Amino acid sequence: MNDAPIGIFDSGVGGLTVARAILDQLPGERLLYIGDTANSPYGPKPLEQVRSMALNVMDELVDSGVKMLVIACNTATAAALDEARERYTKGMGIPVIEVISPAARTAAALTRSGRVGVIATAGTVNSGAYARALQGIPGLNLTQQACPRFVQLAEAGITTGPQVLDVAKEYLEPLQAAAVDTLVLGCTHYPLLAGPISYVMGRNVALVSSSEETAKDVYRELAARNLLHTDTQAAVGSSDDGGASGSGAASGAGGANAAKRVPGQGGTQGMAGGAASSGAASSGEVASGHEFRATGDPVAFQVLAKRFLGPVVGQVRQAHATGGAGVKNLDREIRE
Ligand code: DGL
Repeated sequence: MNDAPIGIFDSGVGGLTVARAILDQLPGERLLYIGDTANSPYGPKPLEQVRSMALNVMDELVDSGVKMLVIACNTATAAALDEARERYTKGMGIPVIEVISPAARTAAALTRSGRVGVIATAGTVNSGAYARALQGIPGLNLTQQACPRFVQLAEAGITTGPQVLDVAKEYLEPLQAAAVDTLVLGCTHYPLLAGPISYVMGRNVALVSSSEETAKDVYRELAARNLLHTDTQAAVGSSDDGGASGSGAASGAGGANAAKRVPGQGGTQGMAGGAASSGAASSGEVASGHEFRATGDPVAFQVLAKRFLGPVVGQVRQAHATGGAGVKNLDREIRE
């Protein structure tokens, strides 16, 4: 179980900002990431609909054998956290980590004036999730703003330039008028636009992204449940060398775990449908033991994911959750 991947998802590339922090803090863990791009964006959709989409994706992750679920999306957290914890944690013992309370915690620690801003999707703003999460801040003066075009821009790979700056100036004007000293990037896509957002808000406004704090929650929960990967270098090497390029396991148990992996198949038992099993390893496309899937066009997702996360993104496969129906799916064929 410790060798199983961490399941993580978002409507698209936003969750990669959380994946980045998890990779940095837990380099020995494997990730199985799903971008639900067929249903992106989540933000403008009714929460009920987002809940059902998010649960479909989480079902796929759980079917694929993950040891933990990370909802790397504020909108999906607002829509589906309670049900996810009921279904997967209470029902199956799989912990579920989310991104709203880590961001709220950080904002509470940073604000001096109590004037806090939250920029997020319409779904997150309207859910009231941040208003609830931040209510413990003494003298809280909360200003929220939905910024849907930020998601469109990030999904189009446009993260700098005059267009982004114009949109940022327009969206951030109410936050400037409210003189916030802390601004929560309450959508995991927004850290991809942190440069222009910070430029518009000015140096004195602290920007809060949930990714670092969420990754700490991932570590804490895995450690508390004794689920940390026993080979700290497991995900470092390419799937072709079975992780052998790592410097060895800090725990001393790495040899046994490394031996369990099948070189060239790039995954643990839980990753039976791993990218390498499609033959991608022999084409040199799989750069790590991580796996990435998209419910929409895998090639379009791969291009952006490589740009935002780098070479750890190998070949992206078609997910079979929402939007993947009808697409020939090798994972299913292999397992069935
Ligand atoms: N990245 C997501 C969030 O944190 C959702 C963006 C969207 O799909 O609208 O809310």
